[in-house]
Amino acid sequence: MPSTPRESIHGQWSSRLAFVLAATGAAVGLGNIWKFPYIMGQNGGGAFVLVYLACILLVATPILITEIMLGRRARRSPVHGMQALAREEGAPAAWSLLGWMGVIAGFLILSYYSVIMGWAIAYVERALAGSFTGLEGPAIKAMFQSFTANPLELLFWHTIAMLFTMLVVVRGVRAGLEAFTTLLMPLLFIILLILVGYGLSTGHFAEALAFMFTPNFSKLSASAVVVAMGHAFFTLSIGMGTIMAYGSYMPERTSIARTALIIVAADTLVALLAGMAIYPIVFANGLEPSAGPGLVFQTLPIAFGQMSFGVVFGALFFVALVLAAWTSSISMIEPAVAYLVESRGWSRARAGTLLGFAAWALGILTVLSFNHWAEVRLFGKNFFELLDFLTSNIMLPLGGLLLAVFATWVMRRASSFEELGLPAAAYVLWRVLTRYVAPLGILVVLLHGLGLLG
Ligand code: PFF
Repeated sequence: MPSTPRESIHGQWSSRLAFVLAATGAAVGLGNIWKFPYIMGQNGGGAFVLVYLACILLVATPILITEIMLGRRARRSPVHGMQALAREEGAPAAWSLLGWMGVIAGFLILSYYSVIMGWAIAYVERALAGSFTGLEGPAIKAMFQSFTANPLELLFWHTIAMLFTMLVVVRGVRAGLEAFTTLLMPLLFIILLILVGYGLSTGHFAEALAFMFTPNFSKLSASAVVVAMGHAFFTLSIGMGTIMAYGSYMPERTSIARTALIIVAADTLVALLAGMAIYPIVFANGLEPSAGPGLVFQTLPIAFGQMSFGVVFGALFFVALVLAAWTSSISMIEPAVAYLVESRGWSRARAGTLLGFAAWALGILTVLSFNHWAEVRLFGKNFFELLDFLTSNIMLPLGGLLLAVFATWVMRRASSFEELGLPAAAYVLWRVLTRYVAPLGILVVLLHGLGLLG
């Protein structure tokens, strides 16, 4: 038996379903609906999607299983959890640095995620006001551009988004995180299906499918592979301890692998549906797939402006997007909050407020990246792009690599076997993927993509 306690001091999810919903809530977010479609467009479509799916299956899924497993075994926040697991396995305490990297990554991601979540909130207001009605592509694009050109407006909505996030974080594991996640995923899913239906009516659906699913490897650059790998981590919220923290609230007797597969399936489905909703509109209106972070805000409003009941669907869509973003944003600082509660004896309220405020302040730099500082560049990237690149494409894969190494090279086989409770064949599959395939894949992609392998 492990020497660690069997229940976290922060409480426990009430059931397996509660865990699945909360983890799916953390996974499905802006990454699926806002980010995946635009990075797919920037990286040429089909081949990128294929590489992304391969990363999800061969690298991210085994690491998701690994991270839940480590969290449940440790029953503590990632920093202390890694410390405890390292002690249990007789490994150096320095493994807790891995927990620290996650704490920092989550904090950095939240700072810009809240800004984009703010855009989604602002668009609820626009949808309700009927602002999209009858507008063509160029007018919708101009609306988005004048919106992001105004730093005070972005700051206002960023502030609202961060307040939303802090509110739930402060309320705690059960009352806060769990309650929010239950109803919203099905709603989001249904509206996406309706939008895919609209896409079918544009006459450009086949073109969209061809763009998404016909791989053209000549368009695939090394940096696109890094982006695809990074996004596999970002979209599943892995490599930074969030899932470890959530796993530490997971009940003893639930199948980790089966739970992980449900999360992956839901997450991937939502991303692909978002692509199938957005791309027919892109092609029907002569828009650029490479429009960047504004893509979803410049496409779907065209549909809402034209379809019947567009005001209702538009408002519902952006509400659902906000809620999806919300269930993700609250998860990002969970490792940091849990750490402060454990080590300093702080209340969740104090920890959540302090961290939220700090992330809000850092978010101001992202706000400025879309207007005054759009052209202030380092390595060809503005601040937002740099932050996104550093976290998604470097910190998360590196975190995932180290988690995989810890779980399969450092941890005794008996420990992971006991915690996963898998049939022998499935265990071997997990082990081979996590011990060899994932670490090698990450290493090659990172070194090659960052230009270190020539
Ligand atoms: N998975 C979330 C999304 O796709 O929007 C983003 C995310 C949430 C990343 C939580 C990291 C995290 F810890």
